[in-house]
Amino acid sequence: MRIDIVTLFPELCDSFLSASILGRARAKNLFEAHCHQIRDYTTNKQKQTDDYPYGGGCGMVLYAQPIADCLRAVQQQCADQGRRKPHVVFLTAAGQPYNEETAKRLAEYDALTLVCGHYEGIDQRVIDAFGDEEISIGDYVLTGGELASLVVADSVLRLQPGVLAEEKGYQDESYWDGLLEYPQYTRPEVWEGRPVPPVLLTGDHQKIDAWRGQQSRTRTRLRRPDLYEQWCDTHPLTPGSWKRNERAALVRTEDQLNAAARVYSESWQQSHQEVCTPEFLAEHTPEAMRQRLDADREAGWAFYLHSTARTPDAIVGVCHKTGEIGRLYVAPAAQNKGIGAKLLEFARKKLPEHPHPTLTVLNTNTRALAFYRRMGWRPTGVEAVYGSDKEAGSAVYCQELKLRYEAQ
Ligand code: ADE
Repeated sequence: MRIDIVTLFPELCDSFLSASILGRARAKNLFEAHCHQIRDYTTNKQKQTDDYPYGGGCGMVLYAQPIADCLRAVQQQCADQGRRKPHVVFLTAAGQPYNEETAKRLAEYDALTLVCGHYEGIDQRVIDAFGDEEISIGDYVLTGGELASLVVADSVLRLQPGVLAEEKGYQDESYWDGLLEYPQYTRPEVWEGRPVPPVLLTGDHQKIDAWRGQQSRTRTRLRRPDLYEQWCDTHPLTPGSWKRNERAALVRTEDQLNAAARVYSESWQQSHQEVCTPEFLAEHTPEAMRQRLDADREAGWAFYLHSTARTPDAIVGVCHKTGEIGRLYVAPAAQNKGIGAKLLEFARKKLPEHPHPTLTVLNTNTRALAFYRRMGWRPTGVEAVYGSDKEAGSAVYCQELKLRYEAQ
């Protein structure tokens, strides 16, 4: 790939492209980079590059002519090398937002030219005449486009074959595509009293990968819910099949009912601890949950109790009358093993007469919401609202959302 930067500060841009990883890759001809001084293309005696804006206002505007002539020279150089006409990007605060997807797209061009604006802007006519697109690197205003062009150059060039391949510790990031990076640690094992997460010292790469994946997902969900929603849509969960020691049995006997109530109580308390007062949580004893299950059964619900190696560890309820699924709870010790996904699919298949069953979930339970989204469920509205009402046991304002199964 050939990259050209058209700027009033070519030395600044060139020194960045000569340093560190990019500098080493450039020296090995893994890409070609040229930084051009706009001033060299001026036709006036003073080598002036800008002027007052028509219509008044503060600041100066870069002339169209020197930029146009510089771009023509770049086009000619590319043609002389037998390359295609370069793709021309103007860096301006008014451009389209930049992201990794755009970096991947730009990385496909054989020749890319980045034009840096300065002062108040660039004469629009040269953007209209030469620009293939305008890009902004974020919702803030820089004094010029140089940093922006270097951000684009760096993120595009690191994708060129060989640029990162030789760097120690480089990881194939495609596995984490669309998620934020997991946290990294290096020596010493304990730094100022802070130990490294023990899983990283086990040498068990399957476990380490699982931990890193979990960290990436949790970070993205909490820090960038917008990214996480997109990721959920593109990464549907496909539940595994039952293992040999797993069972899901219809709850019929007293023993099964009591076991289901224990699982329900323990996991309800865990999933509600952030939104309920401690007193209200403590009221949700296995006995209290048993009463709820009994009342639901009277209203037509059927419950299934899941066990692993004969230990009850999850429950789910279905209502054939209404097409609802509910009370899907996995005991804390059995979480992150795919049991929830299997049990949800199991429950859905118990309701073949309802192609679009429904369920409800608290909007504060972002983990569960993401799980249902990845399983093909979509929000259809708000079922109930809980205020910050200590009497009713709710510690924060939250909404109970209704979800509907939408996937085929
Ligand atoms: N020039 C000034 N601000 C900019 C921004 N946010 N992105 C790209 N170019 C700019």
